[in-house]
Amino acid sequence: MKKYVIVGAGSRCSYMFVTALYEGVNKDDIILSAVYDTNIKRSEFLAEKIKKITDRKATVYTDFDVMLDTEKPDGVIVTSTDSTHHEYIIKALEKGCDVVSEKPMTNTYERCLAIREAEKKSGKNVTVTFNCRFMPYFAKIKELLKSGIIGKPLAVNYEYRLNRVHGGSYFKRWHRLMEFSESMYLHKSTHHLDIANWLIDDEPMTVSAIANRVYYGDPSKSFGERCSTCPKASECQSYEPLNDEESQSLYFGEAEKVDGYRRDRCCFLPDTDIYDNMTLGVQYKGGAILTYTLNMFSANEGFKIVITGEKGTLEAGEIYVGKGSRPDYLIRVLYPDGTVNDIVFEKAKGSHAGGDVKLIKMIFGSEKIADPLGQHAGSFDGVKSAMIGIAANISIKEKKTVDLTPYLDNLR
Ligand SMILES: NC(=O)c1ccc[n+]([C@@H]2O[C@H](COP(=O)([O-])OP(=O)(O)OC[C@H]3O[C@@H](n4cnc5c(N)ncnc54)[C@H](O)[C@@H]3O)[C@@H](O)[C@H]2O)c1
Repeated sequence: MKKYVIVGAGSRCSYMFVTALYEGVNKDDIILSAVYDTNIKRSEFLAEKIKKITDRKATVYTDFDVMLDTEKPDGVIVTSTDSTHHEYIIKALEKGCDVVSEKPMTNTYERCLAIREAEKKSGKNVTVTFNCRFMPYFAKIKELLKSGIIGKPLAVNYEYRLNRVHGGSYFKRWHRLMEFSESMYLHKSTHHLDIANWLIDDEPMTVSAIANRVYYGDPSKSFGERCSTCPKASECQSYEPLNDEESQSLYFGEAEKVDGYRRDRCCFLPDTDIYDNMTLGVQYKGGAILTYTLNMFSANEGFKIVITGEKGTLEAGEIYVGKGSRPDYLIRVLYPDGTVNDIVFEKAKGSHAGGDVKLIKMIFGSEKIADPLGQHAGSFDGVKSAMIGIAANISIKEKKTVDLTPYLDNLR
């Protein structure tokens, strides 16, 4: 039985590291003994939820160091805001704990370096929860590529679209400021960039990027200060009611009074400095080129990935039509002689198409699970994905292509 403590008691922690955790493993495989968050109301909510599910008390701490010294846990689960991960990861390693960190592992080069050095010194391990690797869909694509179905990958075209509710949500929260998220290249795209790195099993070498903000942060589109009091909510394409019990406890009422954080600020208010219209190109060491786009204000939601190898092309994607309806998954493999192989999937159930629970079983389960596809991600995987985003930010600012080699060589 392993003992873990939590830092960052927000929504991801609640549904992934409490709900999904105990769907994936037994109550006796792992104890969540304590919680720390700068907002005590969120810590208290999470501690109560842990008690309800496991029948065991989780202690609420108001100091992270005191929590580690008192609890002496085997591991620390880091689910605070992105720009704070490094601080807790490093402290946890220094106290001899393993770390399970939400993505992005961190979001600047200096923070990547500090984490890698602390990990090496401590002899402990950092796991990054790239849950998309565990979605059955991506796992199948990985398996097909690994079997050599299209030969060596040479070109990857990856397009991701968020609709105006999902995309808009990032402009209502802490993510809207570079100070906290370092842009969606580091926050949202870190999933997609990791998927690209992992699928083609290669290391990024150069990055060039273009991005701007063309939709959110435009006060002429704003009807009010926040969704919950917006007089024209029914006219807004980004309105999202957060009136379920958990959202209310985590973000509104008493929790909001503690730190003044408004979870539902209007996404059209001008206090944002991140992009909503983004593209980048990556050249990999093995010769492949990735072109990637993220559009955060699309009419609908979905993604398309096309990977062309020496022998053929693999096309995959998922386009949502209307609210919540999901099509069946399709993977299509095409060859220059006109042969087409379609691989159709059943609709997958659960958070991130069942990927969250699969990941939980691998990280926390008492049974050792084989990993033939290399789905478990360590700190260097976290670094490779983050460094593409970090380089994209540099590329935009300095209008140049960024060579990742010296950075990655220092981080190895
Ligand atoms: N893997 C995924 O699919 C996925 C999905 C969502 C979020 N995430 C990640 O999970 C993390 C949390 O995201 P979220 O959506 O739960 O956000 P959230 O805003 O709901 O929660 C963040 C929590 O961090 C706390 N916090 C802020 N500053 C802190 C500090 N200095 N020290 C300790 N706690 C602090 C906040 O009070 C809040 O409770 C992020 O890193 C995010 O990237 C991952």
